Amino acid sequence: MSVKGKTVWITGASSGIGRALALGYSARGAHLILSARNVEKLQAVADACQGDGEIWIKPLDLADYNGLEGPVEDILQELPPIDILINNAGISQRCKVEDSNLALDQEIMDLNYFGVVAMTRLVLKQMISRRSGHMVVISSIAGLLGTPYRSAYCASKHAVRAWYDALRGEVYDRNIRVTVVCPGYIKTDISINALGEGGQKHNKMDENQAKGMDADTCAKIIIEGIEAGKTELLIGGKEKRVAYLKRFFPKAVEKKLMGFKPN
Ligand SMILES: NC(=O)c1ccc[n+]([C@@H]2O[C@H](COP(=O)([O-])OP(=O)(O)OC[C@H]3O[C@@H](n4cnc5c(N)ncnc54)[C@H](OP(=O)(O)O)[C@@H]3O)[C@@H](O)[C@H]2O)c1
Repeated sequence: MSVKGKTVWITGASSGIGRALALGYSARGAHLILSARNVEKLQAVADACQGDGEIWIKPLDLADYNGLEGPVEDILQELPPIDILINNAGISQRCKVEDSNLALDQEIMDLNYFGVVAMTRLVLKQMISRRSGHMVVISSIAGLLGTPYRSAYCASKHAVRAWYDALRGEVYDRNIRVTVVCPGYIKTDISINALGEGGQKHNKMDENQAKGMDADTCAKIIIEGIEAGKTELLIGGKEKRVAYLKRFFPKAVEKKLMGFKPN
């Protein structure tokens, strides 16, 4: 399916993978709805887009999932129907369970799980009535195995992956497609924005991120995978191997993760 003239709604579009997706879809002639909290950054992304499709900036705080219904319904009334929703906004973690608290678990789940579920539910109604659409969520390789210092993050990414897998089977007969994206290390500000001990920003570009795949390459693989109707996409460098190892040699992976500290 060509995306020229289609409407793509990207959350977390102000930075990293979301920004790269916006540029990529714009270059392919799609109309864009860009959401995140920072309007100036969203405007900068819109300004950098080269395509001739329409671009609408619609700021949203997706962690405030109880407050989404009004603004999302207004957007659905006002703008063309959504062909592709990409739930990309997310926040990561850089601290151990013993050095954090329930408030941090909650903050991560609010955005990475409940924000995604709330957005998807609201847009799904329109897709079901049109019998057309594509739902996408950016999970992670952390959605395929649990790793130290990422407890709530891994839990949130497992949860959205499972929720989306369940959804796929429910809506297939209404011509709605569902794709779960599982990136490994992508060079974005994810580690800088991650929550560290006490809930403060980690504020550091981790080595794995710095050496990771660039966001534009990641976005290209995502866009082509969605277009090809892939149900799951595993993206990254050699860290992708851990997903296969976990599946076929789970004990070896467990052993490797004992005392493991990612950098
Ligand atoms: N980079 C990686 O290595 C990697 C690997 C696997 C999965 N992922 C996933 O990829 C997605 C994108 O992350 P990224 O790497 O591009 O990181 P990023 O550069 O930190 O981007 C995160 C995006 O989420 C938005 N966001 C954060 N809190 C929000 C909120 N409450 N409401 C609305 N938007 C919010 C941010 O915008 P505002 O601050 O303007 O709101 C920003 O646009 C995330 O779901 C992440 O978990 C990343």
